Amino acid sequence: MFVCICNAVSDRDIRAHAESGVSTLDELRLRTGCSDCCGQCADEAEEILQATLAARLTGGSTGHPTQDLPSAPRESEPKRPVLPVMSPQPA
Ligand code: FES
Repeated sequence: MFVCICNAVSDRDIRAHAESGVSTLDELRLRTGCSDCCGQCADEAEEILQATLAARLTGGSTGHPTQDLPSAPRESEPKRPVLPVMSPQPA
């Protein structure tokens, strides 16, 4: 979805720039032109940028379905045992 109509900058573009190190709206503006014309997109662009940065820090959701797919476990993550599912016993 386009966030900045003036410069054809999408939410996906903003997330990609956030993932590559952009952390402020000014940096985003320099790289994409987002919000350098009418400015109507500034609040939404900032919101997407900050949500993506916060998700990077916490490993949480970006609010974007394709960005929130589970990643493969890292080699350093401990393996958890798989426990059997217990069904309730009749009294
Ligand atoms: S919509 Fe982004 S500058 Fe106009």
